[in-house]
Amino acid sequence: MGLLLPLLLCTLAACCRARSVPGKPPPLGVLSRGCNDSDVLTVAGFALQDINRDRKDGYVLSLNRVSDVREHRQDPGSVFYLTLDVLETDCHVLTRKVWKDCGVRYIHRSVYGQCKAIYYVNRPERILYLAAYNCILRPVSRRRIHTMCPDCPFPTNLSDPEYLEAALESLAKYNSESPSKQYSLVQVTQASRQWVVGPAYFVEYLIKESPCTKSQASNCALQPPDSEPVGLCTGSVTQTPMEKFVSVSCNFFEQQGPAPGGEADAANQGPEHLPGVGESQQKVVVDPTPGLPRKAVPKGSVQHLPDLDDEKKPEDAEENQHAEAFPVKLDLTTNPWGETLDVSFLFMGPAEQKLLVLPFPKDERCSAECPGPAQQNNPLILPP
Ligand SMILES: *[C@@H]1O[C@H](CO)[C@@H](O)[C@H](O)[C@H]1NC(C)=O
Ligand SMILES: *[C@@H]1O[C@H](CO)[C@@H](O)[C@H](O)[C@H]1NC(C)=O
Repeated sequence: MGLLLPLLLCTLAACCRARSVPGKPPPLGVLSRGCNDSDVLTVAGFALQDINRDRKDGYVLSLNRVSDVREHRQDPGSVFYLTLDVLETDCHVLTRKVWKDCGVRYIHRSVYGQCKAIYYVNRPERILYLAAYNCILRPVSRRRIHTMCPDCPFPTNLSDPEYLEAALESLAKYNSESPSKQYSLVQVTQASRQWVVGPAYFVEYLIKESPCTKSQASNCALQPPDSEPVGLCTGSVTQTPMEKFVSVSCNFFEQQGPAPGGEADAANQGPEHLPGVGESQQKVVVDPTPGLPRKAVPKGSVQHLPDLDDEKKPEDAEENQHAEAFPVKLDLTTNPWGETLDVSFLFMGPAEQKLLVLPFPKDERCSAECPGPAQQNNPLILPP
């Protein structure tokens, strides 16, 4: 008995610390945390918000549950290694909406997945800093949706020419009603079809400003410059035996100011705040290097993969069972001892401030409280 306890503790500790190369002692101070702890949920929510803010395309991701979390306490602050199960919402990222204000989709249109993030939190200095992230998303299984709901429409192929046509037709209506400015299509971002009294197409698409004005109309040959999308439109085209109905409604993005985020923004992010940090004084660092365009330093990416069923052939389904469905990789270093990351720019003072960043902890969950409870508990949209 005298031997058993130390052995047991040792095993637990080995699991809960960042384990990368056998034989090397893991760095001290990496804690496994409960995935339902309120401060962990708060940190995860802010991390996901910063992930969404870093993105230029796709739809805002919402937090379904915290799948795993490690906290590496350092002086000062903590580095969190977060594994988050996420769901796509109906808000395009360029609307800059906060994920909590965005609706989750119907199950048959769901896109779900997993993100990993390395997130630095320093309460006394009121710093939240997303160091890196990566996400992998997949559409919900068509086969399993079809079994559950034979009448549900399939997730659509945005490249279908009908959707492009519907988007162009609804944009033409918008342009014809616009006093002078004209817009051109950037990309169809969502689409669906339905049979009403005839075929009906519903689309969502990004637009940019066209160099042509209305008076130049159709004989304007100016090529649109390579400009950023300025708005998002929803439109529909319904064909009946007698006539065609076209609808359109566009929302323009707020001008991207020099400092999106900032203190006022942080204060508007909802009732949640870090324990011990007053909302009004909370600082969310958005642009660590004023003067440098933030675009120059992408912190991560969101990858879309096909329906899991499309990848598995029936004969090797057995073999594939253990293949990772969401192989999200996120490593700022492969050195098992970690590497230091200079984060002096996050601090007010002149002193140099460094973090120790470790290889992302392997997927050996050791907290009984992980994964945490899911907002949407349907197994079809939970990564395995
Ligand atoms: C979507 O449609 C395009 C053109 O119709 C086709 O080339 C492409 O393979 C389709 N993609 C899927 C996933 O079905
Ligand atoms: C998660 O935490 C909340 C609030 O602390 C609690 O009400 C809930 O029962 C917890 N859920 C689980 C599954 O532990």
